[in-house]
Amino acid sequence: MEHEYQNNPSGKMPQKIRFEYDDDEGEEESRFQDPDETIEEAATESSNLEEDLTMCDPDPDDASVIGADKTSADYYFDSYSHFGIHEEMLKDVVRTKTYQNVIYKNSFLFKDKVVLDVGAGTGILSLFCAKVGAKHVYAIECSGMADMAQEIVKLNGYSEVITVLKGKVEEIELPVAQVDIIISEWMGYFLLYENMLDTVLYARNKWLVKDGLVLPDKASLYLTAIEDADYKEDKIEFWNNVYGFNMSCIRKQSIMEPLVDTVDQKQIVTSCQRLKTMDIAKMDSGDASFTAPFKLVAERDDYIHALVAYFDVSFTKCHKLMGFSTGPKSRATHWKQTVLYLEDVLTVCEGETIVGSMTVAQNKNNPRDVDIVLKYSLNGRRCKAARTQSYRMR
Ligand SMILES: C[S@@+](CC[C@H](N)C(=O)[O-])C[C@H]1O[C@@H](n2cnc3c(N)ncnc32)[C@H](O)[C@@H]1O
Repeated sequence: MEHEYQNNPSGKMPQKIRFEYDDDEGEEESRFQDPDETIEEAATESSNLEEDLTMCDPDPDDASVIGADKTSADYYFDSYSHFGIHEEMLKDVVRTKTYQNVIYKNSFLFKDKVVLDVGAGTGILSLFCAKVGAKHVYAIECSGMADMAQEIVKLNGYSEVITVLKGKVEEIELPVAQVDIIISEWMGYFLLYENMLDTVLYARNKWLVKDGLVLPDKASLYLTAIEDADYKEDKIEFWNNVYGFNMSCIRKQSIMEPLVDTVDQKQIVTSCQRLKTMDIAKMDSGDASFTAPFKLVAERDDYIHALVAYFDVSFTKCHKLMGFSTGPKSRATHWKQTVLYLEDVLTVCEGETIVGSMTVAQNKNNPRDVDIVLKYSLNGRRCKAARTQSYRMR
């Protein structure tokens, strides 16, 4: 299967991608259901973006939007006011169709239930739920896109079923005391970047009825190791000699910033290790900060330049297990993978192990950023190395 996406020639930072899937060709193995396996009718009706959607300016009365004094939280919410980011998410077929399939193929879960859509964006998940017979859907969205969601709900004849509430989940008053289901697409790069998980947990603690459902209810983070000489040279070592000048002080910064990019599965040199599984229905906010050990076994003789993190999410309360993976062996998503370059180039022989631990925590100054500390060591025949490296997703 061919994936076509627009590469950003200047770097590996988050970028817009065009997803094109050839549905007729074989796919890499996934333990999850094919997201394209859905009812025909649904595929056409899920496109609600009209041509006249325009950029929503920040609300001038919104006290959080204060010109030069804007906080990073303001920039975060502003970014979701523009339709472009929603277009990218909606066009991520793996993501959006998985949610659609979960809802359409498990309508029994939603029938006559009160649903809360946390961070509704365009309202797409609310529309899916309304379509399969939810009694009422409360769609909370704090960005300017809430106005569009309101209009989209009306355009599609669901004003009686979906109530769009504009505001932050943490500040809003819900017209009901409890909801039966919380649905949300909260995942960020490296799963935890953006820290929207806290918002889902807040909503769960406040409004979810006992034995209510959180969808998705499981999320896991994984680690593997790759050969990536060319890109490391281009992105990291580049700074050592820029037109004959030493700019290695920037190299220090660049190696600390994980890169979000798609990794070719042929680059994978070792086994992969699950670092952490989060049970969204039960976990506490603090559980998103953790230290997890890992052991990666070399599957061939090769060099290792980086470790790569990715995640999957699953909906275990469905009739059959559903979900998707953002791993390099699965169909590409807009989350791509997160690449952490190593200071050392590790030379591994088949069967040798890289052991270590990864510590993940919210950044203290900006809780939407993620601090990562990686400890690794290799005691191999050709290479011995041990090091601790710090990274920050920002
Ligand atoms: C990843 S998008 C998902 C949008 C939509 N549910 C979808 O699947 O296309 C997350 C949305 O949550 C909103 N959001 C994030 N934090 C929020 C909060 N604390 N309160 C309300 N909305 C929030 C963002 O503005 C953004 O539109």
